[in-house]
Amino acid sequence: MSQPAPERCPWSTGIESVRSKATDFLELFHAENPDSGPAAPRIAAVMREIDLTGTYWHTTAELAFGARVAWRNNARCIGRLYWRSLRVRDLRTVSDAGEVATHCFDHLRAAHNGGKIRPMISVFAPDTPFRPAPRIWNEQLIRYAGYAQPSGRVIGDPRYTSFTDALIRRGWRPPVLTGDFDVLPLVVETVEDGPRMFHVPDDAVHEVPLEHPELPWFAGLGVRWHAVPVISNNTLEIGGVTYPAAPFNGWYMGTEIGARNLGDTDRYALVPEVAERMGLDTSDESTLWRDRALVEINRAVLHSYQVHGVTITDHHTESRRFLLHLEREEREGRQCPADWTWIVPPMSGSQTPVFHRYYDAEVDGPNFTADRETTQRGLHGTPTAFR
Ligand code: ARG
Repeated sequence: MSQPAPERCPWSTGIESVRSKATDFLELFHAENPDSGPAAPRIAAVMREIDLTGTYWHTTAELAFGARVAWRNNARCIGRLYWRSLRVRDLRTVSDAGEVATHCFDHLRAAHNGGKIRPMISVFAPDTPFRPAPRIWNEQLIRYAGYAQPSGRVIGDPRYTSFTDALIRRGWRPPVLTGDFDVLPLVVETVEDGPRMFHVPDDAVHEVPLEHPELPWFAGLGVRWHAVPVISNNTLEIGGVTYPAAPFNGWYMGTEIGARNLGDTDRYALVPEVAERMGLDTSDESTLWRDRALVEINRAVLHSYQVHGVTITDHHTESRRFLLHLEREEREGRQCPADWTWIVPPMSGSQTPVFHRYYDAEVDGPNFTADRETTQRGLHGTPTAFR
């Protein structure tokens, strides 16, 4: 009589899944960290904690391991060879929007590290049955505004025209002179305060102006990009605990910027202008003017980051490293999940060894995820997470 009926207890459906994910994770943690002793006593303690509270608190070591394994499990990432080197900032007691923003800006400075970029994650308060975690709306800590002009032309990053509009409607005031690289405010939403916007301080925004090793006019295009990509809207899931605010970064692979951000026709779409300046014949596709211009944009990206002492890698080197990572994982007796469509670089795919094989796709255990609503929020500033 005193036990609530399972379907009436708000967490009951959740609890079985939390218990089983926690058990799997703790077994993995103790198997891969023999110094941490036997798993059984820890699992028993965690089961009691879950029964009492609906959730549990990771130890510092479990959190760091969980975050590193989430990276190791991320099927889209070609840069996983260094998964053990991830620095984990334990900020689980931080849940106030202003404090989250301040720590995010510190993350940008610490990860930049004078150009010698450090892979890093900041883990803020988790979701609990008592209080949902804070949410960061922006896809990355640094994103450039996009302004749709009446002519149809876009100033800035076309990916974010809708997001930029939403923030303007919420009261963000763009610079008087709008430019192609205006950093958007960071939006942090909490259940108490709703969404709040925070200006990203200039000293947290490190950028590289692009120049080309041989084409002197390239610098005159006035193109630049930020040094550190910090993904900020993915949920870190570890053993049945979810951390929706857990921004993380590695360093860039050149093609992400040169082939996609600057090359995609629905992003900065630089290829036609660069081809014209190079004097290529753009009247005939078979001259491969698009391919030739794309290569030069990518050379400019790699060259400029190197000249400015900012860590970057090229897609040939990174492809070889990834296959080395796969070998190591297999030697450890683990399956390494990988998504071919994300792993193969967006240019010269067939020139990289990762192109010429298939991969295991199934992932379980710690990971980074983004649901549909979160993705929408990062692109359109809607729907809000709470109310
Ligand atoms: N592709 C994204 C961008 O161009 C960054 C994704 C993460 N990349 C990384 N190298 N860790 O901004």
